[in-house]
Amino acid sequence: MSSSRRHFIKSLSAASALVAAEGVAKPFNIIRDLKKGSPNDKIRLATIGMGIQGHSDTKAALRSNPNVELVAAADLYDGRLKQAKVAFSNPGLFTTRDFREILARPDVDAVIIATPDHWHDHATIAALNAKKAVYCEKPMVQHIDEGRAVIDAWKKSGKTMQVGSQRISGATFKEAQRLVKAGDIGQINFIESSNDRFSSIGAWNYSIPPDASAQTLDWDKFLGDAPKHPFDAKRFFRWRNYRDYGTGVAGDLFVHLITGVHFVTGSMGPSRIYSSGNLAYWKDGRDVPDVMACIMDYPQTDKHNAFQMVLRVNFANAGKINDATRIIGSEGEIKFTENGLVMTKKKLPQAPGYGGYDSMFTFPEETQQEFVKQYDAQWPPETRQAEPAKEYTFDAPKDDDAHRNHFADFFENVAKGSQGVIEDPVFGFRAAAPVLACNESYFESKPVFWDPVAMTRAKPAPAPKPAPAPKASAQNKAQK
Ligand SMILES: NC(=O)c1ccc[n+]([C@@H]2O[C@H](COP(=O)([O-])OP(=O)(O)OC[C@H]3O[C@@H](n4cnc5c(N)ncnc54)[C@H](O)[C@@H]3O)[C@@H](O)[C@H]2O)c1
Repeated sequence: MSSSRRHFIKSLSAASALVAAEGVAKPFNIIRDLKKGSPNDKIRLATIGMGIQGHSDTKAALRSNPNVELVAAADLYDGRLKQAKVAFSNPGLFTTRDFREILARPDVDAVIIATPDHWHDHATIAALNAKKAVYCEKPMVQHIDEGRAVIDAWKKSGKTMQVGSQRISGATFKEAQRLVKAGDIGQINFIESSNDRFSSIGAWNYSIPPDASAQTLDWDKFLGDAPKHPFDAKRFFRWRNYRDYGTGVAGDLFVHLITGVHFVTGSMGPSRIYSSGNLAYWKDGRDVPDVMACIMDYPQTDKHNAFQMVLRVNFANAGKINDATRIIGSEGEIKFTENGLVMTKKKLPQAPGYGGYDSMFTFPEETQQEFVKQYDAQWPPETRQAEPAKEYTFDAPKDDDAHRNHFADFFENVAKGSQGVIEDPVFGFRAAAPVLACNESYFESKPVFWDPVAMTRAKPAPAPKPAPAPKASAQNKAQK
């Protein structure tokens, strides 16, 4: 049989399967599709978890690629299944409370997983085993020990998988990456990034529908592998506030910050993680902190020097909120948000200088004169000039749409049958594990040691050794 005939028959059987699965004959759609090529040119998408991000992801997916078509949605709350048909203008949209029904459909090529965090690994592994491409929301897993199984299922499946920390697909992150790679700020030594908020909704107190009950939603399914708990609409609709289902500010927000940093610096992750914090303001029954800071030590690699990173969230910041990521190097700084960046370049002169806030004025007059004589001999005028500070600004284009780009990359790889996306599960896990370690560190009051290359827990690392002193210091040389 010729390959084009085999392809045609394959296309027809996929089309018939679709008609059978939907239980509705759609001959005109199929004829239209066959004219374009085959129904297989379409990427049929289903969303698992049609809450806030399920809606946002599905919209971004649909605007990212004209060949993508939403064919099904799963959610545990009936109101969201009803609303999905309205939001996506498809009264015939297949909806179910049980995502396994979606995975069993042969006409579904790809799924978005936008459930609460404790379902990410289960839904992802089931979808990959069912040979679906997966776009899974961040953080990729809820606990460190769940990461390997997801990576293994992805490798075994051969399917495309993208993790959904979409900001790195924006223009600013690409520009920051370019500048760091070019060495424009020298050797990185420190990174800080914050994501503060000051509102009830910002602190995850999302609206609860008045009809929420054990009849209108599947409470037992929601609990999944979490501890048993009597029905509680607050836990269902504000799941981020509880360790049983969410990952706190670390998994919700640090993960975006660290994903950006790994993308820009090419780093695989920190080796030592320590966090502290407090439940300072939102004492509404939640069991996760609303103020948290985390210190991570990044070891030296062939891409960067060793550096320290500090991530911070304050959900009760009534002061000025000025969130940004600052990457500081030996020759400058890049300060960026999603909308753009400012790079400031500064380089120290070779000569160390003297005077001002210095010890020299404490020396006797004749010693000061001798000091200046030696200094002048060692540091000619050209070594005393600092390069003038330079500033470079980059504004992301007005129509830059990181969410759309992230999905475009996903679907492009789905179409090619490739696993080479920007944020595959290895990247996703290298970002998730250190932020999940922040929670471990906070709740168990201990530093967590991590091997970012092997992606395994590590033994406590020895304290960093001081760098050896240069053979002859500047002052020694001058005295010779
Ligand atoms: N990338 C981003 O910028 C971003 C932004 C917001 C949220 N998120 C992530 O998206 C995910 C969802 O967050 P959200 O704010 O949309 O939560 P949400 O509570 O609004 O929606 C979650 C939905 O999942 C459904 N659900 C729960 N368990 C399910 C299951 N087993 N099968 C099918 N449906 C199930 C619930 O019924 C609910 O409607 C989280 O992992 C979150 O971290 C990412």
